[in-house]
Amino acid sequence: MCLNNCYIKQKNHIIVFNKKEELKNHLSTLSKNNTIGFIPTMGSLHEGHLSLINRSNSDCDISICSIFINPTQFNDKADYLNYPKDTKNDLNLLKQVECDIIYMPEITDIYTKNQTIKKYNLSGLDLFLEGKYRPDHFNGMVSVVEKLFQIIEPDYAYFGEKDLQQLYIIKELVKDKNINTTIIGCPTIRERNGLAKSSRNKLLSKDDLGYCSIIYQQLILCKESFEDTPFTELKKNIEEKLTKEDRIKIEYLEFVDIKTFKPQQKFNIKTKYALCIAVNISGVRLIDNIIL
Ligand code: PAJ
Repeated sequence: MCLNNCYIKQKNHIIVFNKKEELKNHLSTLSKNNTIGFIPTMGSLHEGHLSLINRSNSDCDISICSIFINPTQFNDKADYLNYPKDTKNDLNLLKQVECDIIYMPEITDIYTKNQTIKKYNLSGLDLFLEGKYRPDHFNGMVSVVEKLFQIIEPDYAYFGEKDLQQLYIIKELVKDKNINTTIIGCPTIRERNGLAKSSRNKLLSKDDLGYCSIIYQQLILCKESFEDTPFTELKKNIEEKLTKEDRIKIEYLEFVDIKTFKPQQKFNIKTKYALCIAVNISGVRLIDNIIL
């Protein structure tokens, strides 16, 4: 908390940087007494993202949000090209929640031409679930987050539990590389019908949006009974419910040990579990989870 030379937030005032050198110069003019909270995003912002900014605002003197659709974390080119963009609306929302600084780089500000991405050791956390179904996704994600941390040097960085495996991988990155940033995980914000808010929800029809409420309903039901019913039975039951209509295809549905993200077959009192799911509906990929 800043006690001396503190940053004064100005309502409706936001500074946008496209170049890292300009951002770094600006940050070097601010007193080191200020704490910096950082929220990396890929834009097309919704209440989930804004909840991270709000949390940063209440913890820190300065909140910085980055908007960058990171090509190296997309294993599917079409998914990258179709990723929703809404810069004008993003800037308005960030102003409303009193974010102080936005960093919106071009690709060339982050990656040099033909840059090869180094391979990270993520202690095996990247082997399962998203890591299995989206090869190299986490390596690309971690490489951009590390670069952003090097530019901004935040005291705190905020990540959503919606992307639970990502959150734990970033915690591992910070530990492994001795990065001086505290990682804060924030709860998943949901639509009224329970569907986790996601930039990709914009790509769904109204009808599909309604139908998707079944995903969270099933996760919650499972939380109530996972200690006394075999995981295989629970999974079979959810799979049947979700695929009753043809439109949802399940990519994975796994009970994982939250420490390793390794899928587990049976309940053990000493293990902390999460139930994680990825589905495809009308060509849109959605993920969700519940901590058990
Ligand atoms: P993006 O999908 O834009 O998400 C940015 C942050 O918002 C992540 O920490 C994500 O977990 C969080 N978030 C998304 N939906 C949420 C919800 N419904 N409730 C709470 N938090 C939510 O995740 C990424 O971007 C990228 O991988 C990134 C970390 C920016 C690296 O490129």
